[in-house]
Amino acid sequence: MPFPRSPRWPKSVVGWAVDSRQKGVPFVREELRRLHKEILATLSQVSTEKEVSEVRVKSLGRKGTLTQLLKRLGSLPEADRREIGRLANEIKEDLERRIEEAISHIRERERKEALERERIDVTLPGRRIPVGTKHPITQILDEVIDIFSRLGFEVVEGPEVELDYYNFEALNIPKGHPAREMQATFFISDEVVLRTHTSPMQVRTMEKKRPPVRMICPGAVYRCDSDPTHSPMFHQVEGLLVDRGITFADLKGVLTVFVHQMFGEKTKLRFRPSFFPFTEPSAEVDIECFICGGIGCGVCSNTGWLEILGSGMVDPAVYEFVNYDPEEVTGFAFGLGIERIAMLKYGIHDIRLFFMNDLRFLKQF
Ligand code: PHE
Repeated sequence: MPFPRSPRWPKSVVGWAVDSRQKGVPFVREELRRLHKEILATLSQVSTEKEVSEVRVKSLGRKGTLTQLLKRLGSLPEADRREIGRLANEIKEDLERRIEEAISHIRERERKEALERERIDVTLPGRRIPVGTKHPITQILDEVIDIFSRLGFEVVEGPEVELDYYNFEALNIPKGHPAREMQATFFISDEVVLRTHTSPMQVRTMEKKRPPVRMICPGAVYRCDSDPTHSPMFHQVEGLLVDRGITFADLKGVLTVFVHQMFGEKTKLRFRPSFFPFTEPSAEVDIECFICGGIGCGVCSNTGWLEILGSGMVDPAVYEFVNYDPEEVTGFAFGLGIERIAMLKYGIHDIRLFFMNDLRFLKQF
């Protein structure tokens, strides 16, 4: 029965014992070499460590072709067994070495590939990290705060969700007062509102502190309004100065210094009589239109003047709420709208641009 030259080794191994006895040592040697070559050929074709392991298991493993073959050496005559045994061991050692080599080749190749993949070109230009800028409203706020800080005003902050009491009542605007309609209010409840101005901080500050008081309060305020010149959220800076002997001249002096520092030394300003329930007398401050220089244009509605803030001498009625004695102290207060100043300064016609967070807009400042 001829030895089946099938590559399916297990079968050939089964027939081997019989054939070896019949055909002698040359046949066995031949078979061992053939197996050796076959395994090496397979090994030369694999490309992963897993495949190499498979080759190892299938040839040198417990049920591997070579192992099975070696097990059957016992059926050879004593004299032949020695020679064939040596040959078999050589082949086994050779295979073990080649398998180790194959594995280290594969590892080396994979390492090189990984290095290539992760290669960093240090000569490439770096990626620029975009640097942010201060929001234009923050810039104006900072400028205003700087000016009043230099004049000795302390900076305070207060709640945006405010009691009706501080937002209206204690500012001499009782329930049902028509002045309430001037400021379209967001109500949280009957007694709680989103502050419609920063003026409640006048009351909160005086409640806590005895005169003299010299403070400014920057912050967000809310009104139920939305059009090109009104935003439901905007910013004000409140100012309050109370001491002995403060007069309207002090109000004019401080606000004149402010206007000159903010808009330039040559800026003309005027104090126009006005009304606020918590100041008496009251004045609004206009500056000469810096677009047309006072001649009249679209920005100043042909008046030549731009309104920038409300102010006045603190109404004695407010002192009553905070237990200040109006016979002893007097003071003035003012409130300016930051968005309005920013719009005038930068010639922006729609207040909503400030809050759309369009970088093309914001990057210009
Ligand atoms: N709170 C007023 C407003 O928002 C401005 C103001 C503040 C007027 C202080 C006088 C004194 O319109």
